[in-house]
Amino acid sequence: MNALVVYDSVFGNTKRIAFAIANALTEKVDDVETLDVRMVRPDRVCDVDILIVGSPTRGFRPTGDTVEFLNAIPDKALTGIKVAAFDTRISEQDVKSRLLPAMMKLFGYAARPIGKRLVAKGGHLAVAPEGFFVQASEGPLKEGELERAADWAKKVLS
Ligand SMILES: Cc1cc2nc3c(=O)[nH]c(=O)nc-3n(C[C@H](O)[C@H](O)[C@H](O)COP(=O)(O)O)c2cc1C
Repeated sequence: MNALVVYDSVFGNTKRIAFAIANALTEKVDDVETLDVRMVRPDRVCDVDILIVGSPTRGFRPTGDTVEFLNAIPDKALTGIKVAAFDTRISEQDVKSRLLPAMMKLFGYAARPIGKRLVAKGGHLAVAPEGFFVQASEGPLKEGELERAADWAKKVLS
């Protein structure tokens, strides 16, 4: 069995989560690769058993490079492949603006739309999309998030 973890990351937090996920997968998966979204050819995903995609939430959605990558995956290419989606995000409680928390509730985060696009390409969603929290825009990650990411990754295998 082999797995590919694809991530985008501006400040490095999503990258750390991606590597924690990949590391957790190695317990049961022989071959796990972790790649920056800009380094993955879209047809590369056809060869994997498990595909996990993560992005920072920016403006309530995934980054442009993540969306471009997902859109470029050939139609039905993910048929028979287990997929999962994650993001990093800021907790509503940590946002100083009064208006922003309501907008975050309304418009959401990156993981769900990533998951939807993976399913639209034929993927089988192995676990619900998940968000991991940073303390502030540039990080660091909140305490315990790397461990939570590892636990989440193990659900993909069950
Ligand atoms: C321009 C910008 C827009 C952002 N928009 C959101 C947002 O809509 N919702 C949210 O929860 N966090 C938002 N954030 C915080 C990012 O999610 C945070 O920078 C990211 O998790 C850090 O991951 P990275 O280190 O991998 O880039 C935003 C940050 C920036 C700089």
